[in-house]
Amino acid sequence: MSSEINNIAVFTSGGDAPGMNAAIRAVVRASIFYKKNIFGIYRGYEGMIDDDIVALDARSVGNIIQRGGTILKSARSDEFRTPEGRKKAYDNLMSRGIEGLVGIGGDGTFTGLHIFHKEFGLPVICVPGTIDNDLPGTDYTIGYDTATNTVVDAVDKIRDTALSHNRLFFIEVMGRDSGAIAINSGIAGGAAAIIIPEEEMTIDQLVARLDKGGENKKSSSLVIVAEGGKSGSAMDIANEVTKRFPYYDTKVTILGHLQRGGAPTYFDRVLASKMGVYAVEGLLKGKSDVMVGIKDNITVFNDFETIMSNGHEIDTDALRISKILSI
Ligand code: F6P
Repeated sequence: MSSEINNIAVFTSGGDAPGMNAAIRAVVRASIFYKKNIFGIYRGYEGMIDDDIVALDARSVGNIIQRGGTILKSARSDEFRTPEGRKKAYDNLMSRGIEGLVGIGGDGTFTGLHIFHKEFGLPVICVPGTIDNDLPGTDYTIGYDTATNTVVDAVDKIRDTALSHNRLFFIEVMGRDSGAIAINSGIAGGAAAIIIPEEEMTIDQLVARLDKGGENKKSSSLVIVAEGGKSGSAMDIANEVTKRFPYYDTKVTILGHLQRGGAPTYFDRVLASKMGVYAVEGLLKGKSDVMVGIKDNITVFNDFETIMSNGHEIDTDALRISKILSI
């Protein structure tokens, strides 16, 4: 593989996601495979500004493929939003001769890389790592599969107790702007209704659906609520339902950050391994200001404008299927 780039740095940024370690490992080992020097930047853009940068080797990333979180840690950086902060970061990278950057994270990470690339011309590549699966240009983001499996496991457990008491449970899942986790954990967990940020559902519509289940002799129901839903939090919705329809015995479970932890599934490990290698190969082939994606099993390099102008799409067919099956 021909390239001028000899020194690459990798970092993780934004919300951590299971599989980020597998992606770090892949970036490090692919760099070494192609005889490049590889550096790890701790705490994302914060560490770039603070010069928290270390040289890595193949053994630095041993025994991490199965671990959740990120060994490089993550942070949100206000200073990186300023030109002065970015200049400090650039000077630190230059003092080590870094010629290419791989950032693992979501749209915020990609936006930071894009600005950095425009200002300093440094080649940059983003690897999509977020449990939200809200980036166009890839069928899956790293961490989404693990998080959704974690939710399904919790939903199954809640179903046992819901059924024992004929209760209506509202289960809040992550996804500030994205209903992906809610939709697919809702289908897999047999939810009676799914509430997502991208689609409005009034309390009346929700209760009409639940009442129908009651008429069909359902003795308990589970409603999955994405945290960014238009009708409020799971707690707000449950309170409103209880106030207006007191015949429902409602309970609320907020799954919270447990969805971000845990050992990555085989799927996320393989996805992260592929994307990490593709990111290094892309850099070495001269790609820059792009996000690696895998769509229909084909590797794609999506440019920043395409990703950011498209916005993410919800799986409307999955939503349709969930409605057919929740009678
Ligand atoms: O990782 C994505 C995400 O989980 C969103 O769904 C959620 O709103 C957000 O991150 C919360 O992140 P944090 O707790 O780090 O602010």
